[in-house]
Amino acid sequence: MEYVQLNNSIKMPCVGFGVFQIQDEDECIKVVLDAIEAGYRLIDTAQSYGNEEAVGKAIAKTTVPRAELFITTKVWITNAGYEKARASIAESLQKMQLDYLDLVLIHQPLNDYYGTYRAMIDLYKEGKIKAIGVSNFYPDRLVDLTLFNEVPPAINQIEVNPFHQQIDAQKVNQKYHVQVEAWAPFAEGKNNIFTNPQLKEIGDKYNKSIGQVILRWLVQRGIIPLAKTVRKERMLENINIFDFELSAEDMIKIESIDRKESSFFNHQEASSVERLAQLVR
Ligand SMILES: NC(=O)c1ccc[n+]([C@@H]2O[C@H](COP(=O)([O-])OP(=O)(O)OC[C@H]3O[C@@H](n4cnc5c(N)ncnc54)[C@H](OP(=O)(O)O)[C@@H]3O)[C@@H](O)[C@H]2O)c1
Repeated sequence: MEYVQLNNSIKMPCVGFGVFQIQDEDECIKVVLDAIEAGYRLIDTAQSYGNEEAVGKAIAKTTVPRAELFITTKVWITNAGYEKARASIAESLQKMQLDYLDLVLIHQPLNDYYGTYRAMIDLYKEGKIKAIGVSNFYPDRLVDLTLFNEVPPAINQIEVNPFHQQIDAQKVNQKYHVQVEAWAPFAEGKNNIFTNPQLKEIGDKYNKSIGQVILRWLVQRGIIPLAKTVRKERMLENINIFDFELSAEDMIKIESIDRKESSFFNHQEASSVERLAQLVR
């Protein structure tokens, strides 16, 4: 596994594994154990995914030492504010049977995320969290939080895939030394991404799948992809991206399929905020 160094000097695996929408406990335990066996060391969950206990059970079961794993969770918007966020992170630790988390993110830039962030800073100083960051923060919110807090976010986890490349947003994150992580690197399969002719043509040149081309493209951009799959053979496929390099010409070809819009929803629309507020109560 290759690593990147965050702005607080913590080392983080340069590819990760996400467990969004893996609800069944037994399935989630098996999937996380398979992912660790396949070579993943970064596991990304969230309070709102409802599977922190299952992730914890897999961590307890694996023979890979805790120090080699990099575990992320995210504070949901209904847990926003100093006291609630602090209590919710203690609950996440307890659910996962862990005494520290490698990374905690504010899941959405909604509700009292300043209070949440202050709780995260205190837990960071207390050693309960090794790095803190945000998710779905558009450049304006990111800069605001960064400029007005003593500890800058180490990570911003945003949607990045060939249809939503976030080139300008990445520049802002880079300017503030915030590492970008990509959620939905495959756009969850939307817009026929797995049969896209341009990506297929590039993959054929290197004898690689479209999934591998996408993940390699993200790693070469300095972005940490979080791919999700419940299938062991795809876990192995998705991590087998370190034996080839996309040419500068192919990187530019991929740029040409950018639609510059989310495959899901625009976080800045009022209806999206309403939807998110209703999502987990
Ligand atoms: N911060 C946020 O707001 C946020 C939002 C969404 C996601 N995330 C994080 O990002 C992670 C990844 O995003 P995601 O789960 O939404 O979507 P994704 O990784 O873009 O796509 C997952 C889908 O792709 C399929 N797939 C995976 N590898 C494949 C391959 N090699 N070939 C063909 N199909 C393949 C999976 O199917 P199978 O499982 O059937 O293989 C699944 O349907 C999440 O698990 C979560 O940790 C964060």
